[in-house]
Amino acid sequence: MKVLVVGNGGREHALAWKLLESGKVKQVICTPGNGGTATLPRCQNLALNVKDFEGIARFALVNNVAFVVVGPEDPLAAGITDFLQEQKIAVFGPDKLGAQIEASKAWAKALMLEASIPTAKAAVFNNREAAQAYVKAQGAPIVVKADGLAAGKGVTVADTVEAAEAAIAAAFGGQFGAAGKTVVIEECLTGQEVSVLAVTDGITIRPLLPAQDHKRIGENDTGANTGGMGAYAPAPLVSPAMMQRIQDEILEPAIAILRKKGIDYRGVLYAGLMITPAGDPKVIEFNCRFGDPETQVVLPLLHTPLEDIMLACIKQRLADLPEFEWKTGTCACVVAASEGYPDIYKKGAPITGIEAAESSGAFVFQAGTQAKPQGLLTDGGRVLGVSAIGEGFDHAFEQAYAALSQIYFDGMYFRRDIGHQVRTIR
Ligand code: AMP
Ligand code: GLY
Repeated sequence: MKVLVVGNGGREHALAWKLLESGKVKQVICTPGNGGTATLPRCQNLALNVKDFEGIARFALVNNVAFVVVGPEDPLAAGITDFLQEQKIAVFGPDKLGAQIEASKAWAKALMLEASIPTAKAAVFNNREAAQAYVKAQGAPIVVKADGLAAGKGVTVADTVEAAEAAIAAAFGGQFGAAGKTVVIEECLTGQEVSVLAVTDGITIRPLLPAQDHKRIGENDTGANTGGMGAYAPAPLVSPAMMQRIQDEILEPAIAILRKKGIDYRGVLYAGLMITPAGDPKVIEFNCRFGDPETQVVLPLLHTPLEDIMLACIKQRLADLPEFEWKTGTCACVVAASEGYPDIYKKGAPITGIEAAESSGAFVFQAGTQAKPQGLLTDGGRVLGVSAIGEGFDHAFEQAYAALSQIYFDGMYFRRDIGHQVRTIR
């Protein structure tokens, strides 16, 4: 069986690695891939852009690919699944209608309201004056969100009315292009964030282990928002009782309302949640794909073959699959970024020490890297993440940081406090 993975992040490297683990998948092709997927045994890169649907379809047909896994939200929102399915190619990932759950925050909010899914109270605006009047009336703190996909930069948690007004002005001023011509303004929730990635075949929905991400660039959760600087799983914040509530109050109603709307959603539904001080789970956002770096801590703990789960989703037979099996232990991931990320950063720095880092049993999931004849070079903001499994969080993080200390590139930056919520040793 051959599988085609679309994307080029650490998430896609982890997906490819996991798909190859059981031996049933003989080959993974990653497009466009990165330095990690280029050098992973039985994996190769294909130089097609994630939006080149025709090229991807042709490759899948000619090479008899069993199914396509779509990593990032952009191609999903642009309809890659619809395009491939029309040509009878099996895809893990929702169609264009389903992907709206991430691609339009206003649409997702309306869906949540209709299904009585707990979330922050919100109002939607199509013009600046009305949005600003609303913010003045509500006061701060308040959250301003561009409706559409904005590469993780569309959300402002405003501590003052002035900051909220500036965010509104930026959105309507065109900072996010078409993605910002509608703005969602919502109540600012407090509590602890957790990511629950669930897999679904459109009828049955099952959560994977809960994970905690670290969105801010700086230690103590300060500074700009990023794609994610580290993660751990399973997040102790989500007890079995809390997971049951998430299943009953959020995941099941979400898949039921999607089905009611005629949307046949097969793939990952990622619930970004806030556990409020009162202990209630509320949805901050839904994503239509695996999280990055959450995937890099959830998949190493998964014992059930990933291809079995994906095929069950594609064939709408998830209910027939036995309960997912997990390895014991905890998994920690620390991301190393290029200095300057998430703003301006340099590319092309040689990376050393990956083999040494992996010799201790850690996994190095590459993201912004490129395999060149002269060696591995940096090629993006988030360069790589080191994941390690341990008996507890102290052990897992100790190993991840020890492995990371073997790696070097010019301008390498990482947070030293990933997992601060769960570590006793720092
Ligand atoms: P997003 O780009 O939607 O992932 O949002 C980025 C971050 O903004 C989230 O991870 C939260 O930390 C924060 N955020 C979004 N919505 C809210 C909200 N309603 N209340 C508090 N924080 C929020
Ligand atoms: N780590 C956050 C995300 O994947 O959206």
